[in-house]
Amino acid sequence: MARKIVITSGKGGVGKTTVTTNLGVALSNMNLKVLILDVDFGLNNLDVVMGVENRVVFDVIDVLKGKCRAKQALIQDFFNPLLYVLPSVHSVNNINITSEQINFIISQIESLFDYIIIDCPAGIEIGFHRAVKCADEAIVVTTPHISAIRDADKVLTLLNSYNLNSVKILVNRVRGDLVVGGEMFNENTIKEYLNADLIGVVPDDDGISLALNVGGAVSKNSVAYEAFNLIARNLHNGERNIFDCTKKYKGLIGGIRKKIRKLV
Ligand SMILES: Nc1ncnc2c1ncn2[C@@H]1O[C@H](COP(=O)(O)OP(=O)(O)O)[C@@H](O)[C@H]1O
Ligand SMILES: [Mg+2]
Repeated sequence: MARKIVITSGKGGVGKTTVTTNLGVALSNMNLKVLILDVDFGLNNLDVVMGVENRVVFDVIDVLKGKCRAKQALIQDFFNPLLYVLPSVHSVNNINITSEQINFIISQIESLFDYIIIDCPAGIEIGFHRAVKCADEAIVVTTPHISAIRDADKVLTLLNSYNLNSVKILVNRVRGDLVVGGEMFNENTIKEYLNADLIGVVPDDDGISLALNVGGAVSKNSVAYEAFNLIARNLHNGERNIFDCTKKYKGLIGGIRKKIRKLV
């Protein structure tokens, strides 16, 4: 049976889709078969981020209407043969899909996968509940900004009312230069504030915006690549290695890097 993990957040734009995609890639690089599922009906963009939008033949609605089997709607990632996407709906009229219906689809295909990663819509409305009801585990993404942390706190409280096996936080977009300078919260402060288990940290990395432009995961040369690999290993093997975003900015050379980063 697949582990079903919902990637969620309180605040929008903190990196849920980025984490879903890159965690999917990192797990598939560990020889695990991964399905990423977009339940953001209406504003879905996972297929675009993954660069598979031109290859969508069937979507979730087609499966529910019996036009095809769930397996037929799956799209294999071009670069990672163990990674699949189940495309969401392309019409905003279909937002009334229930979590029972999604669970029905998942039940048809979950034996094929090691992981099903569910990209949650922004906010804590119906779409949030629908996505969480399909998962056994949750990762709450936040950035080191106070508004995002506060919203993550609300989401963590909400998640208490679900019967999840595990709830972890992931801190995205950490600027090592600002953390070293004391101008940004570090992950330990956030972890203590939220009183939650930390699955990992991802640095703020221009490589991510670039990757999303061309559809798909960050390149192997990017710093975020290593961070996502650590998170995948923490998740799968129970390791507890957290990417150190500040390393680059410590010492003499690091100090110079920090000054340069501030200028750009
Ligand atoms: N670690 C990061 N470094 C740089 N840019 C990032 C990072 N994570 C996300 N982004 C950018 O932030 C924007 C929002 O990310 P996205 O994953 O779409 O958020 P969400 O799904 O939570 O709305 C995107 O433009 C993405 O490229
Ligand atoms: Mg998103």
